[in-house]
Amino acid sequence: MKGIAVQRRPQAENAASQREGVKMNKTLVVFYSNTGNNRYLAERIARSLDGDIEQIRPWISPFFFVFLSSVLKTGPGIRALKHQLNSYDTVILCGPLWMGMLLAPLRNFVGKYKNVINTFYFVTCCGSSDAQKDDKFGHGKVFSILRDLAGGKLVHCEAFPIVLVVPKDKIGDGNAIMKSRLSDENFKGEILRRFDAFIKFLSSRP
Ligand SMILES: Cc1cc2nc3c(=O)[nH]c(=O)nc-3n(C[C@H](O)[C@H](O)[C@H](O)COP(=O)(O)O)c2cc1C
Repeated sequence: MKGIAVQRRPQAENAASQREGVKMNKTLVVFYSNTGNNRYLAERIARSLDGDIEQIRPWISPFFFVFLSSVLKTGPGIRALKHQLNSYDTVILCGPLWMGMLLAPLRNFVGKYKNVINTFYFVTCCGSSDAQKDDKFGHGKVFSILRDLAGGKLVHCEAFPIVLVVPKDKIGDGNAIMKSRLSDENFKGEILRRFDAFIKFLSSRP
């Protein structure tokens, strides 16, 4: 795997996440992450598909500038990626949502590369739950923005709400939700089931 160092996971984890028997074309996972959730998800997807991975690096990366660029839909943009995107059958874009916005680094990525990408998917570990999908700050709204921007190249969007790893007694606690971080310890149960289904879906493409 190129781009950033990603450790290999022990074999035993689960059937769909393993390379054995998985028919995959060449895949690149591209991610932006501020607090690590989407990095974790991107690394896990890349590992499961034996794909390559690269981080999107904004020219100016502090939170405030990324937030402002996202609000204004303008800004200095992102550094060029090292991987040749047109050499991949599939690109998986992974990143968070803020205030119902498509973040500037993700928007910049789509604007810069959509014409050279063959097909791409968007995956997010977000704060909105399935029930909040169509709310003002829900992931459904951001998926629509992305579809409009990307045109027919965007095949599918998938959300992994962080609430899936929040302990049951903290599910109504907004602060606990915002502070939750994906880890090997909590990536279990429903989120793992969804993840495996997603990997299986990707793997079964013609
Ligand atoms: C300023 C801010 C605004 C956010 N707004 C939203 C939102 O509108 N919708 C949502 O689903 N999640 C929202 N979130 C939650 C993040 O998408 C979620 O915590 C994500 O997992 C963070 O990803 P990261 O660790 O890769 O940066 C917001 C988080 C922050 C910090």
